[in-house]
Amino acid sequence: MRVGIVVGSIREGRVGEQVGQWILEQAQAHGGADFELVDLKKFNVPLFTSETHPAMANRNYDDPAVQSWSDKINEFDAFIFVTAEYKHGVPGAFKNAFDSIAPEWMNKRIAFVGYGAANGTRAIEQWRGIVANMNMWDIRSTVELSLFTEFNETGFAPDARRNDDLKALLDQLVA
Ligand SMILES: Cc1cc2nc3c(=O)[nH]c(=O)nc-3n(C[C@H](O)[C@H](O)[C@H](O)COP(=O)(O)O)c2cc1C
Repeated sequence: MRVGIVVGSIREGRVGEQVGQWILEQAQAHGGADFELVDLKKFNVPLFTSETHPAMANRNYDDPAVQSWSDKINEFDAFIFVTAEYKHGVPGAFKNAFDSIAPEWMNKRIAFVGYGAANGTRAIEQWRGIVANMNMWDIRSTVELSLFTEFNETGFAPDARRNDDLKALLDQLVA
């Protein structure tokens, strides 16, 4: 099984990148699947303006950036979404990238790691409703990180218990 760890924050100075790296290291130590970090920022997915509905595109897209995003997402059997919370919801660029393709997500497993001032909880719960439209199978366990206590000037310093939270998530995802 191949699992894509998708970092969905693309702004300058984002903290999501460090969270993704931590997940990758823990996941590789956990084993049970092949894990890869997928950084949305590197794909420069444009705002979705296509006349063609992605579900009707047969995985062929006019825009080369969308095509390489599609090709990458298509490689995976399951995902861990690394999501910030913006305005009590999912980050717009991440949702745009999710909307820009369709069959690449269909029927796959998905887990969520959130972070933010309120630990990303509301963004995760929004994602559950969104991914249901792609018939994705979401797992219950999450990791929800506090911007106030787990990130400081020297970087990302997760609470010790987050390793257990992530292990529970990985156990369920791999199973
Ligand atoms: C536009 C914007 C809206 C935000 N809204 C929320 C929010 O509703 N709830 C929350 O807990 N944090 C909110 N935050 C704080 C973010 O969780 C925090 O800035 C985090 O570092 C964002 O992730 P990133 O650095 O990977 O982009 C917001 C941040 C931004 C930039």
